[in-house]
Amino acid sequence: MLALGCDHGGYELKQEIKKYLDEKGIAYLDFGCDSTEAVDYPVYAKKVARSILSGECEKGILICGTGIGISITANKFKGIRAALCTDCFCAEATRLHNDANVLALGGRVVGPGLAQKIVDTFLNTPFSGEERHRNRIDQMETE
Ligand code: RB5
Repeated sequence: MLALGCDHGGYELKQEIKKYLDEKGIAYLDFGCDSTEAVDYPVYAKKVARSILSGECEKGILICGTGIGISITANKFKGIRAALCTDCFCAEATRLHNDANVLALGGRVVGPGLAQKIVDTFLNTPFSGEERHRNRIDQMETE
């Protein structure tokens, strides 16, 4: 199950992504927000992070205007690895190397066509599982 969350700056792009996921038959839970009315992105970042840490969802997509505030918030949670991606190279690399479990996007940064390809890459690239990458991911969790 995929968790979706956004603020007002990411609402329109989230709607586009939902259309795409529906077409592909990919199941998701939408944790809001539900309009372009101004809201606070941490609320939605936290809902998505908690759904992943509880095991309800496996991965998430978070969208705010830039993708920055919402990814910073999600990354405060131990076990969440949120990657802000503006291209497919980074989306692929963050799955292969960082085993990222959240994709962050900027609704005011990427258009729907590019976002679709980034989502596709993120969802279809497995973690490499290589020891050096596992070791680095383990090191993220300690200060
Ligand atoms: C909201 O205006 C904007 O600050 C937010 O969507 C995001 O870009 C924050 O990082």
